[in-house]
Amino acid sequence: MTPLVLVFGSAAADLVFRLPHLPRAGETVLGEAGPMLPGGKGANQALAAARGGQGVAIAFAGAVGADPAAEVVTAPLRVAGVDLTRLRVVDRPTGLAAVCVDAQGANQIAVSTGANALARADQVGDADLGPGTVLLLQMEVPAAENAALILRARARGARVVMNLAPAAPMEVAALRALDLLVVNEPEAAWLGAGLGCHPDAAALHRALGIDVVVTLAERGAVAATRQGVVTASPFVVTPVDTVGAGDCWCGVLAAGLAAGMPLAPAMARANAAAAIACTRQGAGTAMPTAAEIAAMLA
Ligand code: RIB
Repeated sequence: MTPLVLVFGSAAADLVFRLPHLPRAGETVLGEAGPMLPGGKGANQALAAARGGQGVAIAFAGAVGADPAAEVVTAPLRVAGVDLTRLRVVDRPTGLAAVCVDAQGANQIAVSTGANALARADQVGDADLGPGTVLLLQMEVPAAENAALILRARARGARVVMNLAPAAPMEVAALRALDLLVVNEPEAAWLGAGLGCHPDAAALHRALGIDVVVTLAERGAVAATRQGVVTASPFVVTPVDTVGAGDCWCGVLAAGLAAGMPLAPAMARANAAAAIACTRQGAGTAMPTAAEIAAMLA
């Protein structure tokens, strides 16, 4: 059977404002906004896995409204071949994100949760959660639904990868049931403070008893695992827009793991893919193909 990456998570339409600098509290900054673009951490990760994966099936389970914003996010997923049969259309507006990007490529994002609040673990059947599946989750849908799905997946043999983004409370029992946790440095700091440990991969690995990756942006990524430490070197690029780069990293990593890659080469591919994504505007629109990733690695 073809391995499956099943992404459970958020979908959103992103309205991207290009500004000379990010607004401070109480400040109005004039700039320009483009058309609505595909976004939402879950949909971005599914798109990254589909574009950047090699020979694995990709499915996305989440919730959107019956509105034009839903089409913004689902159309590219469909084009990329993502299975949307587990997607729910609900009586709430599709999630929206106001994304501000400054002249240096730094960003600030406000998200309207909308339909994402109605994403439910029962949209994913038990048949999807066997050993051939990599389940990938993030934190823009209800934490209780994530926790329920993680525990079911664990019991049925799927490999479970969670990107704790944005950092938000999650049952420790569910975190301990993960195979792999992926966090960036601010998320690691938040989690380490909550667990009372250092915010590095090794300390989080010891505190939770699971494999942990900390992504380090332009410094690469480091994983602390039961088998030892894995580091992945960065690729040097000039970023224009880093929105969605973390999603790209997670989606491509999950696709690599589903294809049977060991963690080190899967992390190297994810680093290459995220570097490419940083050179392009938008989140979903920035996800590279497998050929582009291969060229970067070469
Ligand atoms: O990670 C980037 C994403 O976060 C954006 O696409 C936006 O929709 C928010 O969910």
